[in-house]
Amino acid sequence: MTDKAPQKKLKALQAPKGVPDYVPPGSADFKAVKDAFATAAHNAGYEHIELPIFEETALFARGVGESTDVVSKEMYTFADRGDRSVTLRPEGTAGVMRAVIEHNLDRGQLPVKLVYNGPFFRYERPQAGRYRQLQQVGVEAIGVDDPALDAEVIALADRCFRSVGLTGFRLELTSLGDDSDRPAYRAKLQEFLRGLDLDEETQRRAELNPLRVLDDKRPEMQEKLADAPLMLDHLSDSSRAHFDAVTGYLQDMGIEYTINPRMVRGLDYYTKTCFEFVHDGLGAQSGIGGGGRYDGLMAQLGGQELSGIGFGLGVDRTLLALEAESKSAATGRRVDVYGVALGAEAKQKMVSVVNQLRGAGVAVDMSYGDRGLKGAMKGADRAGALFALVLGESELAADTIVVRDLAAHEQNEISLSTVLDHIVEAVGQKR
Ligand code: HAM
Repeated sequence: MTDKAPQKKLKALQAPKGVPDYVPPGSADFKAVKDAFATAAHNAGYEHIELPIFEETALFARGVGESTDVVSKEMYTFADRGDRSVTLRPEGTAGVMRAVIEHNLDRGQLPVKLVYNGPFFRYERPQAGRYRQLQQVGVEAIGVDDPALDAEVIALADRCFRSVGLTGFRLELTSLGDDSDRPAYRAKLQEFLRGLDLDEETQRRAELNPLRVLDDKRPEMQEKLADAPLMLDHLSDSSRAHFDAVTGYLQDMGIEYTINPRMVRGLDYYTKTCFEFVHDGLGAQSGIGGGGRYDGLMAQLGGQELSGIGFGLGVDRTLLALEAESKSAATGRRVDVYGVALGAEAKQKMVSVVNQLRGAGVAVDMSYGDRGLKGAMKGADRAGALFALVLGESELAADTIVVRDLAAHEQNEISLSTVLDHIVEAVGQKR
């Protein structure tokens, strides 16, 4: 008996709404997708950049645009203890540009090609495929206004998705023009919108950012907007030439696309080429990745007049798309080798063997807690191991160890002194 009063069982806590955990076994897919995207970017010459999770609020207000939903409604903004307004990053491009300017990366060889990944935060209404903490892998290629670079970035996004096995997606493409044609188009669109019977909020938006009105999903609005002038029909000669060159490169590379002149991206910095990758197995949140060119962003953030292009690929939606296609990006293998020791002496030896194998670069786990052979072999199966190493009293006495090939259901007994070389070679052959 203790004199302590009986404790009430505490309520278990849950993650905040719309904030996913990535736990085993699904977390293997999460990591495989992130790694595959990053590898594809590295193979195209992009270098890793790691950025702060929170920034000064002004960065996003100036970079992403005050009139966007992301900035006006969805930011996690708070005052820190020094009363500075900071914001959890809702996207990556503005932070990359801030860092490029701050560290003078744009004063060297151009384009600067960077890849990043991690969590982003948007206070959206959570639903399937729409989270408040979302994960992206993004690239930015900064400093050269060359349509071949637009094509590279788009082709890279396509390769990323294909590298994890996805096939059921399509690429939509448009041009949003630039300083040479957008002001005239904007005026034309405003004139058109003023002729419509619009509610007050939409009228306000039409004056502030008329392009955003085109994104109104309400059926009655879509009807009213059916005859709205489209940017793609009002491109200047230089914007048209840029866009034609991009589509030409894509055709050369055999990358299929459809032109969607009504595409409206959720961020204000875009100019010229804009694109979205859409997966048909996802329902409403079908955008698995998107991006585009941004001519004025660097100057807007206090840097020089350099353009850039990039993308953000949604890791969460890629995982859902894989699920919709009944595919997995992971190998299903937690380790290559699983040690099973029967008895105290065998365990003592196995701990060293496992440690040596790990030192030789083999992924190894072993059973703990004195489980019997059957239970331990279950552990080997669950780990998805290629081989089990079984060491019991009789093997110890003979200075041998049993190597069981778990897929082929074969086993042989080898000398304990050769186990390291044997396993390194056998695993190498199976990989
Ligand atoms: P974005 O289109 O806002 O672009 O986001 C890119 C991708 O992130 C989307 O296609 C989607 O897959 C995923 N995503 C966005 N919001 C959510 C959410 N609430 N839940 C789950 N997934 C989400 C950007 O962020 C730009 N920074 C991309 C870029 C880079 N443009 C040029 N450079």
